Amino acid sequence: MSDLNLNHQMIPFSSVKNDQPLRGEVTVPGDKSISHRALIFGCLGHGRSKISGLLEGEDVLKTAKALTKMGAEISKLDDGSWQINGSGIAGLMEADDVLDMGNSGTSTRLLAGLVAPYNFTSFFNGDDSLRKRPMQRIFEPIKMIGAAIVSRQNNFLPFAIIGAKNPLPISYAMTMASAQVKSAILLASLTINGRSSIIEPEKCRNHTEIMMNYLGLKLAIEDIEISGCKGSKISYQGMQEFDAKDFTIPGDISSAAFVIVAAILIKDSKIKINNVGLNNLRDGIVTTLIEMGANIAIENEQILAGEKVVDIIVEYSKLTAVEVPASRAPIMIDEYPILAIAASFADGVTKMNGLAELKIKESNRLLMIAQNLQKCGIEVKIGDDYLEIKGGFAQPTKQVDIVTNLDHRIAMSFLIMGMNLEGGVKIDDCSMIDTSFPDFVKIFKKLGAEFN
Ligand code: S3P
Repeated sequence: MSDLNLNHQMIPFSSVKNDQPLRGEVTVPGDKSISHRALIFGCLGHGRSKISGLLEGEDVLKTAKALTKMGAEISKLDDGSWQINGSGIAGLMEADDVLDMGNSGTSTRLLAGLVAPYNFTSFFNGDDSLRKRPMQRIFEPIKMIGAAIVSRQNNFLPFAIIGAKNPLPISYAMTMASAQVKSAILLASLTINGRSSIIEPEKCRNHTEIMMNYLGLKLAIEDIEISGCKGSKISYQGMQEFDAKDFTIPGDISSAAFVIVAAILIKDSKIKINNVGLNNLRDGIVTTLIEMGANIAIENEQILAGEKVVDIIVEYSKLTAVEVPASRAPIMIDEYPILAIAASFADGVTKMNGLAELKIKESNRLLMIAQNLQKCGIEVKIGDDYLEIKGGFAQPTKQVDIVTNLDHRIAMSFLIMGMNLEGGVKIDDCSMIDTSFPDFVKIFKKLGAEFN
C-alpha cells in the first residue's frame, strides 16, 4: 500500500467452510502495543538495545519509520531481531517531512505525546480510516503541557504539533479508559521538568508503565476508586535518564484470539499457541470465552520484561451465551469483533455492554459487526453502546459478501466466520490484515484452514 492510501489497492479474499479440524502448535506475531513501545523506549535509552519478536506489521513499522525520520537509528539484523542505538530521552530531532501514521492510531497518539515537549514542530497524517478518528482526546493534555496544535476541525488528522518551548508538568484526569491517551501523557512527561500525574478512571492496558518499570524509571502507581470503578493515579518525575535494555516481545493475545475462536468453533480442533502475552489488563477475551464454556487451558506461565507470558491450549467447545459487563471493555476492547463471531454460535443471546469506544476504532466496529452479522443471517440488536447477538441461525448457503471499511479486525473476524458457513464469505479487502497480523493466512493454512 502506498503512503497515505493514495493508491490503496483492495485485496478481496475468501474463506470457505472448514470440514477438517484445525490442529497443531503455533506462535502468533509479537504484541502490537508492546512493539510500538519497545521501539520508542529503545530510542530514548542510552546505548544499544535489541528487540526480539517485534511485530513487523505495518502499524509498528510506521512508528519505526517516524522515529527514524526524527533521527533515530533503527535497523533489522540478519537474525530477524531489531537493533536501536538510543540517544537519551531528549535525543529526537525535528523531522523534515510529514510523519505518515498509515492506519495506526497507536503510532499517532503515542508519538504526538512524545514530541509535545520537544521544541520543534511535527506534522502528522494518516490513511482514510485514521483521518476519521478523534484526536481531541490527546490534544487536550498536549495543549496543557504548552504545545500548540493546528488540526483539521480541531479534532482530526492531518495535524501539526508545535512543541512547547517551556513544557509544564500536568495533572490530568482522563475522561475515558484509553491506554493511548495515558501513554501519550507518560511519554510527554519523560522530558518535562517536574512531576506529572494522570488519573485513569478505569484501569486499561499498562504496557507503558510495565516497560518504564523494567527500564528502571521510577513511577508511582496508586489504586483509586472513582464512582465504583477501579482506576489508578500514576505520577512521574520527568528528566530521568536510563540505559538501553533488550526486549523480547510476547505473542499478541489480540491476534491469538482469532486462532482461539477458530479452534473453539471448528469441530474436533485442538491448538496450542506458545508465548502469548496475557497481561491481566488484556485477558478479558480469555475470561469471557471460559465463562461461555470454552475449553481453554493456560500453561507455562512466566514473566518476560515484566509482562506475563503463557502457552494457551484450546479445543473445540460448545458455547453458551453470557452477558459481558461494561467493566470488561477496557481489557478486551480489540476483541469484540471476534467475540461476536463466537457469540453467533453460542446457545442463547449474548449481550456485550460498554461498547461506545468501538464506534471510533479503525472503523465504526459496532456497526460493522452488526451489519456483517446480519448479512450472515444472524439476529442482532444494536444500541448506542451495546450489542446483542442471538446464537444459532439458519446458515446462508451462498457466499456472503463482507464489507470491512479498512478494518483489519473486521476482516480477520469474518474470515473465521466464513470457515463456519456453508457458503463461506468473501471479504472485500484483506490488505489491512498486514497492519497487525501479517502471517494470518500462513498460520491458519498451517493449522489446516482453507482460503480462496
Ligand atoms: C492500544 C490501546 C487501545 C487499543 C489499541 C492499542 C495501545 O486503544 O484499542 O489497539 O497500544 O495503547 P485505546 O487506548 O484508545 O482504548
